[in-house]
Amino acid sequence: MSHAPVMLDEVCAALDVRDGSRIVDCTFGAGGYSRAILAHEGVSLLGLDRDPTVMPHVEQLRDAFGARFSFVQTPFSGLEAAIASQGWDGVEGVVLDVGVSSMQIDNAERGFSFMRNGPLDMRMSDSGPTAADAVNLLSAQELTSIFRNYGEERGARRAAAAIVAARADAPFTTTGALAELLANVLGAGWQKIHPATRVFQALRIYVNDELGELSRALLAAERVLVPTGRLVVVAFHSLEDRIVKQFFRERAEQPSQGSRHIPQDSAAEFAPSFSLLSRKAIKPGEAEVSKNPRARSARLRAGVREDAAPFSTQPVGFAGIPDLDTLEAMI
Ligand SMILES: C[S@@+](CC[C@H](N)C(=O)[O-])C[C@H]1O[C@@H](n2cnc3c(N)ncnc32)[C@H](O)[C@@H]1O
Repeated sequence: MSHAPVMLDEVCAALDVRDGSRIVDCTFGAGGYSRAILAHEGVSLLGLDRDPTVMPHVEQLRDAFGARFSFVQTPFSGLEAAIASQGWDGVEGVVLDVGVSSMQIDNAERGFSFMRNGPLDMRMSDSGPTAADAVNLLSAQELTSIFRNYGEERGARRAAAAIVAARADAPFTTTGALAELLANVLGAGWQKIHPATRVFQALRIYVNDELGELSRALLAAERVLVPTGRLVVVAFHSLEDRIVKQFFRERAEQPSQGSRHIPQDSAAEFAPSFSLLSRKAIKPGEAEVSKNPRARSARLRAGVREDAAPFSTQPVGFAGIPDLDTLEAMI
């Protein structure tokens, strides 16, 4: 199934594109957002995606929009380098639609889904460790941390212990084998969702470093947006939305309000670097959710870049979760 762009009207309104705008679509996917943005003549758009399988959609936009459209295959944390490769010194808009696309979930070979048997992969790109590497090589403690922090799985420890015991007989290679084990260990319980849901989500977030990528991309967007430029983010689960919310909240805070810990003489350093388009996250309308149930958990947050210098916060990280380079070295 092709990917139906989520909250497209709301995204376009929040981006407020104008003649001469330079926009980066950090999550190109099937190009739904990019196409709608490029419909505004006089706009130049740079698409980014780490997934090489989006190229047929890239070609379609190249044919339709010529030199106004360009594309770089990169994780979106590489935003600044990608912009520099276009010779741009800043941009008027950055949009992120984080998460997996319908094309990725629906293709069993990509290994994202516990509903379809396939290789236990889950990588959005074509490099780096797979979900099978994580499940077969990390310790029970590390797996527990991943399932707990990235999946909010209450049975994290039980699931990790069962995986470590089972892999001593045979390593996990398929989504089906892992889903079956999780169904046995975690059971259906009171939840309506499949027992493997949270562990699969956690592994996907881990293998793609989704939270680290998101927080680095937000920091990069803050550096590359020109004053009055717009940052628009659509997130699909609470872990991502929390990062976006916190990012905007810190940056839109007035130094005199709620920043009591900041000494007066450094208040200028903490002048707001964004103003918010709305205090609360914008949700999709009922009509969209009934047409596209995958839109139901979407939350849009957007800000307008102010003149102030960027903040210098560190990207998020969780203790007890090894980084992907450490896992790669174990393969
Ligand atoms: C939800 S889809 C975007 C759909 C797009 N808005 C559209 O209208 O077709 C998310 C896309 O972002 C890509 N993606 C997710 N995380 C990424 C990252 N850290 N770096 C680069 N691309 C990423 C995925 O490969 C996927 O193609």
